[in-house]
Amino acid sequence: MAPTDFEALNTGFAESRPKDIIRHAFEQHSTIGVSFSGAEDVILVDMAVKLNPNADIFTLDTGRLHPETYRFIEEVSKHYGIRIDVRTPEQASLQSFVKEKGLYSFFEDGHQECCGIRKITPLRQKLSTLDAWITGQRKDQSPTRSDVNIVEADTTFKGLSGNLTKYNPLANWTSSQVWEYIRLFDVPFNKLHEQGFTSIGCEPCTRPVLPNQHEREGRWWWEEATHKECGLHAGNIISKG
Ligand code: ADX
Ligand code: SF4
Repeated sequence: MAPTDFEALNTGFAESRPKDIIRHAFEQHSTIGVSFSGAEDVILVDMAVKLNPNADIFTLDTGRLHPETYRFIEEVSKHYGIRIDVRTPEQASLQSFVKEKGLYSFFEDGHQECCGIRKITPLRQKLSTLDAWITGQRKDQSPTRSDVNIVEADTTFKGLSGNLTKYNPLANWTSSQVWEYIRLFDVPFNKLHEQGFTSIGCEPCTRPVLPNQHEREGRWWWEEATHKECGLHAGNIISKG
């Protein structure tokens, strides 16, 4: 098979609607998953399920999400009549990590180790069963995401047959477009968005932002803006050198 020309694909997708990008992704890959964080990326679930009611939707349950997020994941599952593949951390490594370092070590030595155990390892396992995955990353979310492509080879993780393709259908969308979609199509949303939360991750590492504060300031606020990737999208940092 000829190598994929990602540059040409991205040029072709520049003006495409996210739903058309997802449709293309579904047509290209038989094993493809949608990663849903329980935040405004719910619009990906809406689009994916409308295209394929059996779409593989997965979420990484770190064990540290807000109660609102757990309820929301359940609400989404009921609303669309789907089963969400909820992935949890590997028990033995989580137990020894917490025993050794406690429950809040990330405030002292950074979030990488905890995210590694609670998110990255379960994600790596899930991705090893897929040829491609779809994420809700957008350029406007963070300084580390200003170059996010609509489609790219994911070289951070390995897929079922080695290669793994990553689709970011919302890359060129703004937060306003996302919220317009949520309102227009009556998409359920996480109640934390009504309480000043914009970007939502784990409870200890997420806080609301004030008007005009960048959404990423609500995540891992004790760390440098350019380090605010947990490893799910590590390529964003690597590509920034
Ligand atoms: S993070 O890397 O900083 O946590 P962010 O919250 O901005 O990511 O979400 C960007 C995209 O990464 C989401 O739209 C989703 O596709 C994926 N993602 C992030 N967190 C999770 C999660 N807990 N479970 C599944 N996917 C996630
Ligand atoms: Fe741990 Fe915070 Fe990362 Fe969640 S976001 S996995 S609590 S460091």
